[in-house]
Amino acid sequence: MPDSATPVRVAAHAKVNLRLRVLGRGEGGYHALETLFLRLAYRDEVELRRGSPGIRLEIEEEPGPLFGGPGRHAVLPAGSENLCWRAADAYHRALGRKPAVELLLRKRLPTGAGLGGGSADAAAVLRGLETLHGEPLGSERLEALAGELGSDVPFALADTPAALGWERGRRLLPLPAAPARPVLLLVPEFAVATAVAYRWLDEARSREQAEWSGARLLPSADRLADWDELDGLAANDFEKPVFARHPELARWRDELREAGARPALLAGSGSALFGVFRDEQARDAAADRLERREGVAAIRTRGPV
Ligand code: C5P
Repeated sequence: MPDSATPVRVAAHAKVNLRLRVLGRGEGGYHALETLFLRLAYRDEVELRRGSPGIRLEIEEEPGPLFGGPGRHAVLPAGSENLCWRAADAYHRALGRKPAVELLLRKRLPTGAGLGGGSADAAAVLRGLETLHGEPLGSERLEALAGELGSDVPFALADTPAALGWERGRRLLPLPAAPARPVLLLVPEFAVATAVAYRWLDEARSREQAEWSGARLLPSADRLADWDELDGLAANDFEKPVFARHPELARWRDELREAGARPALLAGSGSALFGVFRDEQARDAAADRLERREGVAAIRTRGPV
């Protein structure tokens, strides 16, 4: 068990969904999902240490492509509305002990971008607290807590570079990693709140017959480490309703495709877009061109990790 002075540091990686199919609305108003998660080499960091009674959360913005520029969405709340704080609270309730912990969140990932930053931070808090306390809960109970905190938290907690996810993201099938490829993220100035994106999708579907993007069946898991196979499966049901509200996102997605990205898609429920490139030269050429767009930040990274 780490001594009380030693902080525990945990990386909190961004994710994208190479495929995101939203099925009907199920338990408690949540939608059932079929999704293919991929972790990116772009991350926040959470540092945890024992402290005085309570949960203290401090947020530090990491200088980076989004620092002070486009893509800076919101000043995150440092109190009980923050998912990190809620993760710490849920963890201590499960443990049956009063919290006495200090959390330092080094924030680099944009919020409201569909990159799962808040979920990654929450999962890092669960992991970090479990380490700090000497692993008392065990992986099954941690996974259950993750499932309660949000749809992307179980994958963020899982130790796998890619996974298929079902239900509310609670059922996961770990996948072998496809070879790492250069990724370009385009982060616009505006955010899209997940709950709002689900509402847009429901509204669109109540007006018209659900149109299934990418109706291909999933192949066997061993073929999901191949980029050609993955590109053929790429689809995101949020694109249509989100692009209808933000047409510039559809244009930027098309520009990513024209620059050679395969696939190029909306990240989660938006607002960011991502493109996967064959090599860094193609990715960097696309970045040089696209980062001159007003109101968009281009981030160069890799996936999967
Ligand atoms: O789980 P997460 O925190 O990402 O969800 C944010 C909101 O998105 C939920 O409160 C819900 O309105 C909507 N949602 C949904 N179905 C899901 C996941 C999220 O309707 N599977």
